[in-house]
Amino acid sequence: MVSAMQDVLLRVENLCVEYPGRPPKKAVDDASFTVARGACVGIVGGSGCGKTTIARTIIGLERPSAGRIVFEGEPIASASRSADLRRRRDIQLVFQDSLGALNPRMRIGATLAEVLRHHRRDDVPTAAALDARLRELVGQVELAPDVLAKYPHEISGGQRQRIGVARALAVRPKLLIADEPVSALDVAVQAQMLKMLRRLLDATGLTMLFIAHDLAVVRCLCDAAVVMHAGRVVEQGDPREVFSRPRSEAARALVQAVPDVVRAMAERFAGPQAARLDARV
Ligand SMILES: Nc1ncnc2c1ncn2[C@@H]1O[C@H](COP(=O)(O)OP(=O)(O)OP(=O)(O)O)[C@@H](O)[C@H]1O
Ligand SMILES: [Mg+2]
Repeated sequence: MVSAMQDVLLRVENLCVEYPGRPPKKAVDDASFTVARGACVGIVGGSGCGKTTIARTIIGLERPSAGRIVFEGEPIASASRSADLRRRRDIQLVFQDSLGALNPRMRIGATLAEVLRHHRRDDVPTAAALDARLRELVGQVELAPDVLAKYPHEISGGQRQRIGVARALAVRPKLLIADEPVSALDVAVQAQMLKMLRRLLDATGLTMLFIAHDLAVVRCLCDAAVVMHAGRVVEQGDPREVFSRPRSEAARALVQAVPDVVRAMAERFAGPQAARLDARV
């Protein structure tokens, strides 16, 4: 999936992750894939196939029982404490449920300012610099600056997901992991969010690992797809290929799960990224 010439940012090698129990639950079973710098890779699969577990292992919340994760050439599990702290900045996670992830008693601007002061003090040496950076961040997710004065419950679900992305961007990560960031949104809002994300990736060159259960979403947004089933990677490649000619049973089932209207439109567009995104609705 990644040629030898490309710069690999993240390498997941024969990863196994088990949850304790009797018997232990093998949530991820011998999974391998790479994420090139600047690419958007989609992990796609049905509920319980191990997607979130992979994300949690990459950020160090779970330990591999076998295999390893290499970030910028350095294995994650064996990283030193200082490397660990650096990684916490370099890899940011955006959750599915942004309402649960935002402090309900803090205005959006205050939440973002807190992240900046904690992780990126250099970016905001003065009140004016802070103000400018806050405006820049909400601008990157295509929101107007007035959102900064609002509380989480005063904005829509789609806007909250954008703030979740802005908060991750505030840290200036090298890798953004988005775990089902559009799944809770209705189809029209999903499409807007996907277009925004694609523009953001094109403008910033950010690397993203995008987790979804919907193959049409991955086809719209991602440069590469990793299809999982029961903890294993069963297929990987160009998302358009996986969508139009699935080789594995699991990928075929995911294609069939896409609503007919979306599938018909997605198949009509095989062109540039913008057209692919327009195919979502
Ligand atoms: N803390 C845990 N303890 C025990 N088993 C767990 C734990 N977390 C997840 N699992 C199990 O591991 C498997 C993989 O779970 P995971 O959350 O990674 O799947 P997922 O692909 O993200 O699913 P979904 O699409 O529903 O979010 C599932 O069978 C799940 O029940
Ligand atoms: Mg999950």
